[in-house]
Amino acid sequence: MSSLFPIVAPAIKPESNDSGLSAAAQAAEEEKNRMRRYFQKPGSQSELSAVAEQEPVCLYLETTNRCNLLCTTCPRTYEQLEPEADMPWELFTSLIDQYPRIARVVLHGIGEPMLVKDIAQRVRYLKDRNIYVLFNTNGTLLNDANGRALIEAGLDELRVSLDAAESAMFQMVRGKDFFDRIVSNVRNFTHLQRELGAPRPRVSLWLTGLRETVSQLPNFVRLAHSIGVTEVYLQRLVFFDDPMSEQSLARAESALFEHTSEDEHAMIREAETIARELGVLFSASGATDPGESIRMQRTDNPWSLCRRPWSLMYITANGRVLPCCIAPFSMKGYGSFTLGDATQHSLREIWNGPAYQQFREGLLTSSPPPACVNCGLRWSL
Ligand SMILES: C[S@@+](CC[C@H](N)C(=O)[O-])C[C@H]1O[C@@H](n2cnc3c(N)ncnc32)[C@H](O)[C@@H]1O
Ligand code: SF4
Ligand code: SF4
Repeated sequence: MSSLFPIVAPAIKPESNDSGLSAAAQAAEEEKNRMRRYFQKPGSQSELSAVAEQEPVCLYLETTNRCNLLCTTCPRTYEQLEPEADMPWELFTSLIDQYPRIARVVLHGIGEPMLVKDIAQRVRYLKDRNIYVLFNTNGTLLNDANGRALIEAGLDELRVSLDAAESAMFQMVRGKDFFDRIVSNVRNFTHLQRELGAPRPRVSLWLTGLRETVSQLPNFVRLAHSIGVTEVYLQRLVFFDDPMSEQSLARAESALFEHTSEDEHAMIREAETIARELGVLFSASGATDPGESIRMQRTDNPWSLCRRPWSLMYITANGRVLPCCIAPFSMKGYGSFTLGDATQHSLREIWNGPAYQQFREGLLTSSPPPACVNCGLRWSL
């Protein structure tokens, strides 16, 4: 085995069921399908118009835009997108209080949410309102105290972006030498969960699909299993037409979606087989299975299948409202897809304000907003 990290058997073998998945992975699969169903609302294209009939079901709140890594896939590494800030508590609570019955809140944007001192209090604020809460983290700060605080606050899902199964590859993608620390943090965290009998948060490992790292996938699944993680996700790479730097891996040549070779398909299939054997759920963002996420969707105007501007709002740490979490990776600068300022207007005013309506209208045509032109074409939706 080529991994520099020793793969060891997990302390507890998860119980498995008829599907071959561990009980935890099976529950995760069911929850994922439930989420997908409600994200499919609101219905078919002919029912969609510039005005959204329903309120958003999900808010992305960028709790901070600060970060302690230098990922070569992330625009933040090469450019300051907005003034550095944590979202003020007053703004955070006022946004939630405008939609107290929102179904789901994601607490990351472009930045590392665990740098926010009161992140657990923010989770608690949402859980007190019965909202499903999750965030992605780079895992560097997941120590015992932070981990306990998140469990006690009731976090539903913690997604750890690890991107590699060994240190050298990790450093190439994530920019710093933190692999061993993150692996150990996650192992300690799942151990703590077992000790406390705390099934929540669901913990998952994420790998952004790069041609450079697709060969890591089989060991990535083994690594997840060995540290008590039952869910692994292959995430689509989103990139700019013109890379931000020579070092940036957010580029067409690195994307799996466009040029997947037979060897690369074989790696994904091998990872699927290993996942099945180990009872780990292996899935892909925006698709039903990892293979599907890298297959082209040959439809006309594929971006028009996107439902995000009818179902969610993304608010940066400074209060800027964006249509989704993909656009910051697909289009440089926020100017062309800024839909409002939540420090100046209410979310309801913005949700069906002129900028949102114009954006939705464009998305239903053959000349979509510039941020959307490659969605469903060069990466999956
Ligand atoms: C911007 S990060 C913010 C949360 C946290 N800092 C982290 O890394 O998990 C959110 C997710 O975007 C992923 N990501 C980074 N660059 C990407 C790209 N070019 N395309 C798709 N996802 C990317 C990260 O791996 C992470 O899972
Ligand atoms: S992907 Fe996450 S950890 Fe990496 S630089 Fe971007 S915000 Fe930071
Ligand atoms: S950038 Fe992509 S995900 Fe975002 S609104 Fe446009 S089509 Fe949808």
